[in-house]
Amino acid sequence: MSSQQSVPAHVAIIMDGNGRWAKSRNLPRLEGHRRGADRARDVVEWAKDAGIKQLSLYAFSTENWERPDAEVRGLMALLALLLPRRVPEMMQEGVRLLALGDIDALPKRAQRALRAAMEKTAANKTIDLILCLNYGGRQEILAGVRRTLLWALEQEDPKAAVAALTVDDFAAQLGRDGVLPVDLIIRTGGEQRISNFHLWDSAYAELYFSPTYWPDYTREELQAAVDDYARRERRFGLTGEQLR
Ligand code: IPE
Ligand code: IPE
Ligand code: MG
Repeated sequence: MSSQQSVPAHVAIIMDGNGRWAKSRNLPRLEGHRRGADRARDVVEWAKDAGIKQLSLYAFSTENWERPDAEVRGLMALLALLLPRRVPEMMQEGVRLLALGDIDALPKRAQRALRAAMEKTAANKTIDLILCLNYGGRQEILAGVRRTLLWALEQEDPKAAVAALTVDDFAAQLGRDGVLPVDLIIRTGGEQRISNFHLWDSAYAELYFSPTYWPDYTREELQAAVDDYARRERRFGLTGEQLR
């Protein structure tokens, strides 16, 4: 394998453990999220240095709305406050900001900050930072089903059109244009689950779990995950012999 192929193009991180990090220090959960936001900034730089082309960060899930009001409001306020501050360094480092998830349902201030940062960074080319906000893998797939059904209704023979759909046809309806297939999913914080993150791509993404709470995450940890990925053989259902 060439070194090019051994670096995952798209790394997705479930940044988990902010709350437990804070609790272990007798700090409010929101302080954990603040520290977590600092790491989210750092990890973009580390990913860029590692040669990763797209980094998606799970910042808020569709299920996270059910958390206590103060925590949800705190997280949204943090987003609206920090994003504009980070645009200058994103410009300097060539970071293009993209988003996945139902952005229209975010509070207006957060939406404005996000859209402004995406617009400003749209021409940057070094690395894509994909913020997954109000994101749920099931919801993403359901939205794809809805789009597909509406498309089918407009076909001359809807039943035949639906019957002829391929996996690739359907994937094109997921609203992930420009998003590379996820190669590696990293979860920090010790849990070993996907929690509704990139469900479609987790079909063949490599998984890596770290016990470290997200605010304590380091460049070395990211590198260890990338190195581990490089040693794996992705067979996609084939035999090892077939690949060689
Ligand atoms: C992840 O950290 C951040 C978000 C879900 C927004 P958590 O807040 O889930 O931290 P733990 O899992 O409670 O420690
Ligand atoms: C996943 O973490 C969501 C984010 C990191 C944004 P959660 O803490 O919400 O997941 P569960 O509840 O442990 O599955
Ligand atoms: Mg958690």
